Amino acid sequence: MKVSIIGGGGLVGSCAASALQFGRIVREIALVDVNLELAEGQALDLLHGASLISDQKIYASGTESVTDSDVICITAGLRRKPDESRLDLINRNVALFRNILADVKQHGVKPCAKVFVVSNPVDVLTYLAVQELGLPPAQVIGLGTVLDTTRLRSMLAQRLNMPPTQVQTLILGEHGDSMVPVWSAAQVAGLPLDKYPGVTPAVIAEVEKKTRGSGAEVIKKKGGAGFAVGASIADVIHSIALDQHRILPVSSLQNGAYGLRDVCISVPTVVGKKGVVECYEIDLWPKEKMALQKSGSVLRETIDKVLRG
Ligand code: 2OP
Repeated sequence: MKVSIIGGGGLVGSCAASALQFGRIVREIALVDVNLELAEGQALDLLHGASLISDQKIYASGTESVTDSDVICITAGLRRKPDESRLDLINRNVALFRNILADVKQHGVKPCAKVFVVSNPVDVLTYLAVQELGLPPAQVIGLGTVLDTTRLRSMLAQRLNMPPTQVQTLILGEHGDSMVPVWSAAQVAGLPLDKYPGVTPAVIAEVEKKTRGSGAEVIKKKGGAGFAVGASIADVIHSIALDQHRILPVSSLQNGAYGLRDVCISVPTVVGKKGVVECYEIDLWPKEKMALQKSGSVLRETIDKVLRG
């Protein structure tokens, strides 16, 4: 499988490329960036480690590499300032993102290509990609709350001194302030989280607050997310590459789950080689379902305001 990463010279794109290299599953990674020199530097650095890692083709390229790509991952975009919400960022990023979509469209993509949006605000830009690329909506996916879910699991594990890979829960909704942690689903090693010693409402609230603020915190401390978002991107791409049909909280165009329509937002989604295989409407606590629908309204209002002028 060939993956083109638009924004591959940047922190998010290059960390995604590194995660794909260590994942050893895709065969070809093209780093596309308006700063070609930077993309060439990232590709060179990745190439230098290849002999210890994997036999893949990794190189810098212009946008023409999207024409035979199976997955086009778009990470390019201006980054949030520490005190800026993701939705505030939208006005600065919509114009840039529209240019990227036009460039991709002008070069053309394979009929079965998947477009994977990471740039923020990811849910709104995923919706824009569905509208402007003309691909079947199932082939346009946003990273959504996959990164938030990854963070929540990891930080909950750290707080409770448990193995992160055995802590299971998820976040649905907007990749942003209205995200919805689904505590009703939280488990550790298959057992309900709230049955474990040391798990109190105060601990849950503390970790949830830290997760919500993680994006801004990592921007403040090191300028922006890299390793965790790269790993999250690779996890989704591997589910496509291997047709794993794993259930991931990616963002996609909704047409009814939880009463959500005509908005891109994260719900439990089966991800395989065709992209979105199906979306599940699994029972949530009433307050979780209400929060998810509120999150959908927040995104709908933004789409109406920003994308429809
Ligand atoms: C974050 O939450 C990049 O939006 C991403 O760090």
